[in-house]
Amino acid sequence: MSVPILNASGCLDALTAPDVARSLDAFVTKTVTPLPREGNASPRIAETEGGMLNSIGLQNPGIERFVADVLPRLEELGVPLWVSVGGFSAADYATVCAQLDGCDAVATVELNLSCPNVEEAADTAAAIVAAARAQTSKPLYAKLSPATWDVAETARAVADAGVDGLSLVNTIRGLALDASGRPLLARGAGGYSGPALRPIALACVHACAQAVELPIVAMGGIASGRDALDFVEAGAYAVALGTTLFADPGAAGRVRAELAAEQAARPAASSPQATAKSLQITQNVSA
Ligand SMILES: Cc1cc2nc3c(=O)[nH]c(=O)nc-3n(C[C@H](O)[C@H](O)[C@H](O)COP(=O)(O)O)c2cc1C
Repeated sequence: MSVPILNASGCLDALTAPDVARSLDAFVTKTVTPLPREGNASPRIAETEGGMLNSIGLQNPGIERFVADVLPRLEELGVPLWVSVGGFSAADYATVCAQLDGCDAVATVELNLSCPNVEEAADTAAAIVAAARAQTSKPLYAKLSPATWDVAETARAVADAGVDGLSLVNTIRGLALDASGRPLLARGAGGYSGPALRPIALACVHACAQAVELPIVAMGGIASGRDALDFVEAGAYAVALGTTLFADPGAAGRVRAELAAEQAARPAASSPQATAKSLQITQNVSA
């Protein structure tokens, strides 16, 4: 069974790298908020040991310009589109979801539940999902942070509130200093991603797959077919590439080929349950 490969939100600009976007089974946009946001001051990306830090600050054109200008150009790529939605309150998420509901080009909405000021307590996450659910009939994925005290509890809460799938995981807060003790990022701490996140993400995927019957898109340091297979075995039905795309824009094709080889060498990876769920996600990916 082939595993869909997506990009992780914010890690690929499909309009400047259309061939990379077309190498994916679905393209996930950077998070869109109700109003335009300029993002944080530079430097807002820094390499550090085991991965990278970013504090982009949800830079985006706002939902109105996104729908009018960006979405029609993304549609021309011919790749299923997932739109990542963010906000600072449940009402913000509901507003963006309502605007996307009428857009035929949008296959799936991914709710970024790790935005600043949006607490990821299970009840808050569920309230956001319920508000979004009321505004859209599109497939809804909840993207969770690995930094909650019990990610499986949040997964159960968002499942009860009506999501169709989970995206696991977002970055985790980190800080790196230069030789004189100043933070590498202008804002201080930022989101830590890349290889060091992989075991953390794997544990989240494994815990959530035990807790809920929902398809899971896994991300967090995935850079090879072996990494992808580990996530499939932990319970994911699709994988997303993030930080690795900055160093290797052709990673999707490579990971797909490596994964096929790994699966051929280890055919027990796909359980009957996995097959049923992967059918579900393939439908969502290609909707
Ligand atoms: C530069 C950068 C920008 C990101 N922007 C977003 C974003 O807008 N929305 C979101 O949900 N996640 C965002 N993320 C998080 C990624 O989608 C992903 O969850 C995280 O980086 C873990 O995957 P990775 O280790 O493969 O990069 C961003 C990550 C990076 C590195």
